[in-house]
Amino acid sequence: MAKKNRELTEVLLSEQKKYYPSKKVLANANVKDYEKTLKKAEKNPEAFWAEAAEDLVWFKKWDKILDKSKKPFYKWFTNAKFNLAYNALDRHIDEGNGKKLAIIWEDESGRTRKYTYQKLYNEVNQFVNALRGLGVKKGDRVAIYMPNVPEIAIAMLSCLKIGAMHSVVYAGFSSGALEGRIKDARAKILITADGSFRRGKVINLKAIADEAVKKCGSIKKVIVVKNNEEKVAFNKEKDVWYHNLIKNQPIEAKIAEMDSEDPAFVLYTSGTTSKPKGVIHAHGGYAVGVLRTIKWVFDLKGDEIFWCTADPGWITGHSYIIYGPLMAGITTVMYEGVPDMPKPDRIWKVVEKYKVNVLYTAPTLIRAMMRYGKEWPMKHKMPSLRILGSVGEPINPEAWKWYYINVGKKRCPIMDTWWQTETGMNMITPLPCAPLKAGSATKPFPGIIADVVDKKGKRVPAGKGGYLVIKNQWPAMIRTIFNNPERYLKTYWKQVKGAYFAGDVAFRDKDGYFWIQGRTDDVLNIAGHRIGTAEVESAFVSHKTVVEAGVIGVPDEIRAEVIKAFVILKKGVKESDELKVELKKQVRKVLGPIAIIKDVAFVDKLPKTRSGKIMRRVLKAKELNLPLGDTSSLV
Ligand code: PRX
Repeated sequence: MAKKNRELTEVLLSEQKKYYPSKKVLANANVKDYEKTLKKAEKNPEAFWAEAAEDLVWFKKWDKILDKSKKPFYKWFTNAKFNLAYNALDRHIDEGNGKKLAIIWEDESGRTRKYTYQKLYNEVNQFVNALRGLGVKKGDRVAIYMPNVPEIAIAMLSCLKIGAMHSVVYAGFSSGALEGRIKDARAKILITADGSFRRGKVINLKAIADEAVKKCGSIKKVIVVKNNEEKVAFNKEKDVWYHNLIKNQPIEAKIAEMDSEDPAFVLYTSGTTSKPKGVIHAHGGYAVGVLRTIKWVFDLKGDEIFWCTADPGWITGHSYIIYGPLMAGITTVMYEGVPDMPKPDRIWKVVEKYKVNVLYTAPTLIRAMMRYGKEWPMKHKMPSLRILGSVGEPINPEAWKWYYINVGKKRCPIMDTWWQTETGMNMITPLPCAPLKAGSATKPFPGIIADVVDKKGKRVPAGKGGYLVIKNQWPAMIRTIFNNPERYLKTYWKQVKGAYFAGDVAFRDKDGYFWIQGRTDDVLNIAGHRIGTAEVESAFVSHKTVVEAGVIGVPDEIRAEVIKAFVILKKGVKESDELKVELKKQVRKVLGPIAIIKDVAFVDKLPKTRSGKIMRRVLKAKELNLPLGDTSSLV
């Protein structure tokens, strides 16, 4: 093949075509020899991660890199002393980088704010002192229910400096979802805001938070950030304004020396029951995994403007809006609002305005932008872009190519990163030096051994679908489920012997590239957000007219999946379109706007197994005209 223009030449046909990095991308790459790096790390993953850990500041070094003695309750960097917040913040001050820009914030209405590392450090310390004044101690849980504003980063970092665990609840969740999460974590404090903007509308967050707090005895104080001057109800006993709280607090605060394995935070994610799982991540290992992946996957040198369009309420936001960029000492962009307001080019406008170097977004957003048309990104000069990223769901080859051509101008490699709340960091992902295929997350990150296997754990041949598993350990891995170690064992370690069970189906092609196809379990992926069918069903059943409900995901052009519900009504209740609307409203009230319901069908019965479990697979096959598959257990 001709050397000239190799980066963009076709190597293989159709979806097997490989996209090679340009000379410029290669010259700038932190990792240049892809295969050699993968092989070296695979031979000795522990040595690989120990070397990565040297990029961080440890108060005391570890005795052992990985302790497997109580597996699968693995421990990383045992007996080391560490703090994630020190590495994301204090370190940069100690190293004389206080003047560097840490956060650029902009909201839908055009307001902007900037924080240098010094300014961020001062305000975090003030808040640390204030929280300590309210009695927050090491090991306590603090719930955070806030929009994408700098104060959410301040709140998260402040908790960690004290050694308290934060539990961030996505601000699009309803009061019911917030209440459940506060109760499970037994959080002492709730940090929220007066309101938030979305599509020009003001959402009164404080009112939603109040609904939840009414039913949560554990909350002693509600701290309210003034974001948009929204008029809010104020309970003088319980509520306190953030700005009043930090006023007059000293700008220095002591940082807690944590054990490397101490939990840093809990983050709830959907599973197969109606109760979300509180995923626990630990200080030391999480920091090592997140810093190494952000630096290598996005080729960071230390001066980048990095924009991850997720929300801090999800793991993507935790790892790649807040902790990753801040640990790497670069500038993170936070944007509060939707990407197509006031016009469909808002996202490209922000890239141009702030000279964003790395844009990390989701397939659902790319598909929505595709629909508006390429003329919108064309309007903007985006030569600053170097690397593009995708996360949350499989990216279809059409969307991949549109992103590659119209946003990256064929210059910017796309990092399709497969990972989960539980993995904490990117797991199957290319590096910029790697050959790409449109729609494949390519290969595991160095040090990660992934496989596609059958139920017995036997590898399935190339091209055949199977269960995605991780066969070794990695530092940012989930440590347990909060207050529920049995569920941790059962969900991740009892499905396939000796491996971490991801709950996804995938296949590998003949080049060893992974193609992720979706979930194996009853978890839906709506616009990159995970939501359990059981949670949605229980929201339906909470309505007085409903006896039982079964829900499935049906394909949607933009959001990948939306919900179709099959509902059994109580005897005597009349079926009507008004009732359908009311039921949709009810689910939205319980779960929040992420539960997008396309259709409600009233039925007399639901297909069930002998043990009484709803066979959603059968509902789905019927709905989508798919083969029914094995129905031997169907009653
Ligand atoms: O099904 C996979 C899908 O999202 C799930 C994890 O969801 P969550 O814990 O909410 O974290 C999302 C962001 C990390 C996975 O089990 N998923 C995530 N990224 C990809 C993906 N599916 C295909 N390709 C991806 N790049």
